[in-house]
Amino acid sequence: MGDLETLKKEAALRAVALVESGMRVGLGTGSTAKYAIEELGRRLAAGELRDIVGVATSEASEALAREVGVPVQPLDPRPLDLAIDGADEIDPDLNLIKGLGGALLREKLTEVQARRLVIIADHTKLVTRLGEKAPLPVEITRFGFLSTVERLRALVPGGRLRQPGAQPYVTDNGNYIYDAQLPAAFEPLELERQLKGTLGVVETGFFLGMADVAFVATPEGVREIR
Ligand code: 5RP
Repeated sequence: MGDLETLKKEAALRAVALVESGMRVGLGTGSTAKYAIEELGRRLAAGELRDIVGVATSEASEALAREVGVPVQPLDPRPLDLAIDGADEIDPDLNLIKGLGGALLREKLTEVQARRLVIIADHTKLVTRLGEKAPLPVEITRFGFLSTVERLRALVPGGRLRQPGAQPYVTDNGNYIYDAQLPAAFEPLELERQLKGTLGVVETGFFLGMADVAFVATPEGVREIR
């Protein structure tokens, strides 16, 4: 396993150690969250945990959870005890950018209902300001997407429709993603408000003030950031 993979797994294990029997747990998406889902399955199979319900933030995470023996239910209005997920950027105040894995809408819908949102990452995700390394993913409707992209470019110049091949990337919700390049200076809450007010925008990858703790694995050990 490569060094970063080892670190991701270390962070994931720290988060899954917080899970107790009977909990309803939000299951994140991505290469770090994958380790958490696998560890949850391992703990269930080993009899360390019982009566866990997982609520998956993507079809991929749901499939993995079922594969490793974590029971999955759809999101309903009941709170989740805990949600565990990765992030693309983590700033010093625990504000996040998420969605490079394309699951930002289901992640936000799920994690807003969690009593505790636990973020797991390796140290490359730490930034001094959001947008330093990663673009901000913005989920937009397919209908009229070219017009929405123009509106977004007027608001945040720079960025592009996510298109890994001949066709645009399609989310689990049937939408497209616009990856916005953030300027060097901006006010995240205000930009979030403006983006959410833009016709055609479904959700943004800003997760502001949502995370309770981050386990960030470094070569020197796992840092706990609150
Ligand atoms: C998916 C996400 C992921 O949590 C984020 O992209 C981090 O993924 P990884 O752990 O693979 O780096 O927000 O929508």
